[in-house]
Amino acid sequence: MSSKKKILAGVVGVGALVFVGALAYALIPTETRDIGAGPQVAAGSAEEKQLIEAGRYVAVASDCIACHTAGNGKQYAGGRGIESPIGTMYATNITPDKKTGIGNYTLNDFDRAVRHGIKPGGGTLYPSMPYPSYAKMSDQDLRALYVYFMKGVAPVEAENRASDIPWPLSMRWPLSIWRKQFAPAVAPVDTSKYADANIARGAYLVQSLGHCGSCHTPRSNTMSELALDESGPEYLSGGPLIDGWLAINLRGDKVGGMGAWSQEDIVATLKSARNSHTAVVGGPMNDVVSHSTQHMTDADLNAMAAYIKTLPATGKTKATYTVSDTTAKELFAGVEKNRGAQLYLDNCAACHRTDGKSNRIVFPALPGNPTVLQDDPTSLIRVVLAGSRLPSTKTAPSDLGMPGFAWRLSDDEAAQLVSFVRQSWGNNAAAATASQVEKVRKGMDEQELKAGNVTSLEEMRKITGAEQKVH
Ligand code: HEC
Ligand code: HEC
Ligand code: HEC
Repeated sequence: MSSKKKILAGVVGVGALVFVGALAYALIPTETRDIGAGPQVAAGSAEEKQLIEAGRYVAVASDCIACHTAGNGKQYAGGRGIESPIGTMYATNITPDKKTGIGNYTLNDFDRAVRHGIKPGGGTLYPSMPYPSYAKMSDQDLRALYVYFMKGVAPVEAENRASDIPWPLSMRWPLSIWRKQFAPAVAPVDTSKYADANIARGAYLVQSLGHCGSCHTPRSNTMSELALDESGPEYLSGGPLIDGWLAINLRGDKVGGMGAWSQEDIVATLKSARNSHTAVVGGPMNDVVSHSTQHMTDADLNAMAAYIKTLPATGKTKATYTVSDTTAKELFAGVEKNRGAQLYLDNCAACHRTDGKSNRIVFPALPGNPTVLQDDPTSLIRVVLAGSRLPSTKTAPSDLGMPGFAWRLSDDEAAQLVSFVRQSWGNNAAAATASQVEKVRKGMDEQELKAGNVTSLEEMRKITGAEQKVH
């Protein structure tokens, strides 16, 4: 062999060894603690009914329904597509149907899937099933959840849908390596380390069942959350874009975080998607409120809010906010100091008023608003282009909307308008650019096409005003 060939053979040899080593590591079965046969309660007994109800509440607090129910599909019968950078995957049928659902699961199978991310056959689940958070669920809640899914949910026969993830990325064994390296060990939240029982309950609900960090905590380049509790300064400090909306910083930062929010403000938002000064925009958080948090008890919502209020500021927000009435006075006097101000008066002031605050609870205030002041202006651009609709909740049933302005604003105009909102009434955040607007518009087009809401570019242009961008 020539020396070149020798080197090549050597490289291939080492490569093969690494591959076999990795495969072997991936295939070592994971032992998990046997948690017993499940509660032995008589069918139809009061005790069983109680467990089913307790389990139903755990399912609501854990928002299992958000992913495991398709848009207009049967409850928990699966089918909802979840986007990931490598393709779309579909949450499975978790009704107790024996053929297509989880009807044959033992309590241990259920535990391995929900808290460890392991399928009954031994394969690893994609972490889009938030088992890294559910790993902190208590045995008691897990047992109740199991009884609820076996006895309180109607079985539905519905085949699972294969993911769109292309081979070789679709191979599952590398996921086992990820799980073994990055998924946390299964252990309930240590409630003794918190100041009081209320905050401890909040920590449990936020970290485990609510899996708030799966959206609100930034991820490393291996896709794992940078922190799973308050011991890491990145915990809940603002996540990536979820379906085109920025999951904002929930830590104590006065600007861009929860620092200026009272505990009651957080409770109101979790209950009705709005509070006296701001409103939730976009699908992801509205879904959390409508499927999950609005159905939780006031005591639990207060506990979650109390825990969130203990998280110190990141101190990293670049934007600032100082109460100021200069803009309101200028606009009221008809002074349009730039194109952004002009566009605001023409398009926004009818609802949000010249002071940006409006005088009614339904129109959120723009000064000091964390969604407006995030360093990344994506959500603000998105709400201006696409509009938003408050979900109808039990406590606030009307669903009031804001129209989208994509069809009438060019990228440059939208950028100037957004910059005006970010730099008026005492708001002071970096200006937005036309290329940022273009990117958001493109993302909206792709989502509409993927969702099947439109079938052609022609139709799409009507919705998003993309004609300005199609050359
Ligand atoms: C954020 C989305 C999401 C949430 C919330 C979620 N799941 Fe899942 N779940 C998934 C996805 C996606 C899969 C499939 C993953 C895969 O194919 O690897 C899955 C798989 C499962 C499986 C394995 C089914 C099988 O045999 O393949 C079970 C069991 C399960 N989920 C139960 C639950 C329960 C119970 C809850 C609430 C406590 C829940 N899930 C919440 C997304 C979610
Ligand atoms: C599926 C992803 C997702 C999950 C899970 C999630 N959030 Fe959010 N959340 C978002 C996004 C996106 C926004 C930004 C919406 C906005 O700016 O109005 C948001 C915004 C918020 C806001 C600010 C709302 C406002 O009016 O500005 C609060 C408070 C909040 N989330 C709390 C929580 C809590 C508590 C949990 C856990 C129970 C949670 N979130 C779970 C995606 C998520
Ligand atoms: C027809 C009344 C109406 C008009 C016109 C309108 N808005 Fe809104 N706006 C609303 C309502 C209602 C909401 C709450 C919607 C929701 O949360 O889903 C809202 C929400 C918002 C939010 C999110 C606030 C938060 O707390 O997260 C921003 C930012 C915003 N509007 C800016 C604008 C700008 C800029 C314009 C002009 C391009 C505009 N709005 C025009 C009614 C309006």
